[in-house]
Amino acid sequence: MTDTQAVLQDMREELETDSNSLRKISADFCEEMKISAAGRKSSLQMLPSFLDLPDGFETGRFLALDFGGTNVRAMLVELGNRSSAVLKQRSAPLRDPDGKYDYTAKDSSAEELFDFLARLVSSVAEGELVYYLGHTFSFPCHQTSLSQTKLIRWTKEIATPGVEGQGVGELLQAAFHRLHSRIVQTVILNDTVGTLLAASYADPSVEIGSICGTGHNTCFRDKGNNGVQPMIRNLESGNFSKVSMSVYDRQLDAASEKPGEQRLEKMVGGQYLGEIVRMMAMNAAAAGALSAGGADDLIQPYCLTTADLAFFMYPALFDRPKKGPHLSVQDEKIVAVLANLVCRRSARLAAATYVGILKYLDFNLTGVHTIGVDGSLYTKLPGYAAQLQEAVKEILPERSGTVRIVAARDGSGIGAAIAAAIATRQKYFDS
Ligand code: BGC
Repeated sequence: MTDTQAVLQDMREELETDSNSLRKISADFCEEMKISAAGRKSSLQMLPSFLDLPDGFETGRFLALDFGGTNVRAMLVELGNRSSAVLKQRSAPLRDPDGKYDYTAKDSSAEELFDFLARLVSSVAEGELVYYLGHTFSFPCHQTSLSQTKLIRWTKEIATPGVEGQGVGELLQAAFHRLHSRIVQTVILNDTVGTLLAASYADPSVEIGSICGTGHNTCFRDKGNNGVQPMIRNLESGNFSKVSMSVYDRQLDAASEKPGEQRLEKMVGGQYLGEIVRMMAMNAAAAGALSAGGADDLIQPYCLTTADLAFFMYPALFDRPKKGPHLSVQDEKIVAVLANLVCRRSARLAAATYVGILKYLDFNLTGVHTIGVDGSLYTKLPGYAAQLQEAVKEILPERSGTVRIVAARDGSGIGAAIAAAIATRQKYFDS
């Protein structure tokens, strides 16, 4: 007879992140930041955003485009007095659920993708006298000014050809041109930067912005020195490589679009959590701990989403019947145990990197620090926000009171509008 508990215990050990291993990750993360800051080869970057924190005087109506990898959202945002209101918004998936289009696929094109984005923004701008747009583009980019940026590489399994190495601003502006639109893209920013802007607009003590959603990444405010202006810098922390991978992580990485890249993101991001759980469940089935029928239902790669994991872990919070794989009650319980392990590990790894950044900014943690976080894991997955905070406490038992983690709701939308306000003001003074 199979000892299910023994199988689960082995998996628990394989994914273990005890306090010491988290402390080691924090120290290594801080070290990788120093290496990157010194201009040496590191798995982290210090990508410039050309934006500093808002001063609170950002006012007016701006357009925002939020392109993160799953859905695209266009918004009309009103800013004033350190608060914001979304006046209009429209969103659309990048992959049609009925399979009519998929702008993220290898057989789509840059032109199709950017025409789709331009149409969505124009539909929100219609009838309005607002033309200044902040564009959140949530991928690693090499930025040379507020609106000049080139995509370094796609992440989150996006494979649209003709965009890597190209100017993102030019691609969108050309699409507006094709539509005869007067919209001007004033700034392009990462979603972590948007999150930091939005969080610090509401609470000026925030100095770190992070996304725990489909993807994972963090940015921070670099105070600058020796003539270097203060600026928000994008770490592309999803690419952090000094984390030890379990057998399942290695399996997932090998089958991914970009093996070897985005190691941390493949352990933290919502794009991947369901797939890790699925791989574990298949192994559990091979060891006899999950039924053969359950294994058949989980055979398709990426058939488990983070929403499915939430359903298995917290069935009482959701209405039945649900979409996605239908498992027996016993199999659901096993998958729920695996989902708990994987989601908890995600929060703990992200927390370890936050401590690494805090150590880089203030080694003895003498000050009080605030981190603004957004993303579907943080805002929607029950328990995730608490696990993040608890892990910081566990890593820094004596100083944990000095670290605050706050929700930065809608950072990539509101943040894009704030960035547009900063950029428009900057252009006005420069001209
Ligand atoms: C991208 C980052 C982004 C993060 C969260 C990652 O895949 O590389 O630029 O901030 O996802 O959306």
